[in-house]
Amino acid sequence: MVASRRTFLIRSVQCVLAAGFFPGLSACAERPVREQDLTGDGYGELVDVIGRQRAEIIRYASLAPSGHNVQPWIVTIKSADNWIIGSAEDRWLNEVDPRNRELVLSIGAFLENLVIAAQANGFKVNIRTLADNPFDPELLSLELVNGKRIDYPLERLIERRTLRTGFRNEELDPMDIVYLKDSDDNFFYYPPASAGAEWLDKATIAATEYQVTRDNVQKELARWIRWSDADAARYRNGLTPEAMDITGLAGWYVKNFYGESDVLGQDFRKATVERAKGQVAQSGGWVVIGSENESLSALLETGRRFERMFLKAKSRSVGVHPISQVLEERPWVEDIRKVLELECKPQFLLRVGYTREYPLPVSLRMPPEEISYILQ
Ligand SMILES: Cc1cc2nc3c(=O)[nH]c(=O)nc-3n(C[C@H](O)[C@H](O)[C@H](O)COP(=O)(O)O)c2cc1C
Repeated sequence: MVASRRTFLIRSVQCVLAAGFFPGLSACAERPVREQDLTGDGYGELVDVIGRQRAEIIRYASLAPSGHNVQPWIVTIKSADNWIIGSAEDRWLNEVDPRNRELVLSIGAFLENLVIAAQANGFKVNIRTLADNPFDPELLSLELVNGKRIDYPLERLIERRTLRTGFRNEELDPMDIVYLKDSDDNFFYYPPASAGAEWLDKATIAATEYQVTRDNVQKELARWIRWSDADAARYRNGLTPEAMDITGLAGWYVKNFYGESDVLGQDFRKATVERAKGQVAQSGGWVVIGSENESLSALLETGRRFERMFLKAKSRSVGVHPISQVLEERPWVEDIRKVLELECKPQFLLRVGYTREYPLPVSLRMPPEEISYILQ
């Protein structure tokens, strides 16, 4: 991994990313686009080894969602066209994700972005699974070969984001469900006021109430919150106040006066439960995405299906919010299959709903050179 100069504010990263990838965006056009704002000193070295096009493919892949925005992926560059995808142990979430289930799902989403971006650049990606164990540091071997260019609106990767506010309570149109579900047999929609959605609402609140009592969960979360702009700039991963939708005066306050210890306080725990109540009250229902089993390849494939769907949601003004507590805590993780009569194993619970606004993403990303190791 190559050290990088980290001199930027969250907003400038968002603007530079948006403007750099998607020149049509003018919201931040008054800021000059300087590549060194976006990447560190090591980016040039990465480009020297694999070329700019391949470095950009890694950047597109890194825009994938991940639990707590830990961005657990590592790309080991064996040669320009041979990469190993693995995970970084210091980015595992041992408390909420002790089996690395969410980690593998996130790496599946990363892989989907990578394949889409590679295909749009005229590469076929040959994928070989290297492990069966989600704790293995090396999970996948990728080979990029010349292939047919497959057009894809890559701005979808840039504009995809988790939405947490502004959902309407209206049921989703069946045509939109068909579009989002595509050919996925393990995709289920529970409209608002259906028995399934009512159970998911209540279970989410109950699982959240329980989860905030677990000190180790709060400590883990605290390590991944970047309260100040300085920390956001330093780490370029984790959750910022903006990403948690703490904005305006409250956002200014927490940025300047909050720290790790506040996440352990009773006020923060109570606010987390209240936020969950507000969220489930504002929803166009739930989507459950499941897998046939919990093998590494089934989880990777489920992460890919989830990301494929997520990338399409904005075009139908459908906001998507993964809420995982029910799948992280007992007894809810055991009850869900019985209550919803699922034959598959649920892997994602997504609050969905039409939104009037779909703001640009606010979450941080580590630059390609920080997630890539060049084997010398
Ligand atoms: C496996 C997985 C689990 C997630 N669980 C939650 C969750 O429980 N609550 C939440 O607010 N967001 C959750 N998210 C969303 C992430 O926080 C989000 O993807 C990350 O902060 C990056 O933001 P972005 O999606 O806007 O790029 C989850 C995402 C993934 C991939």
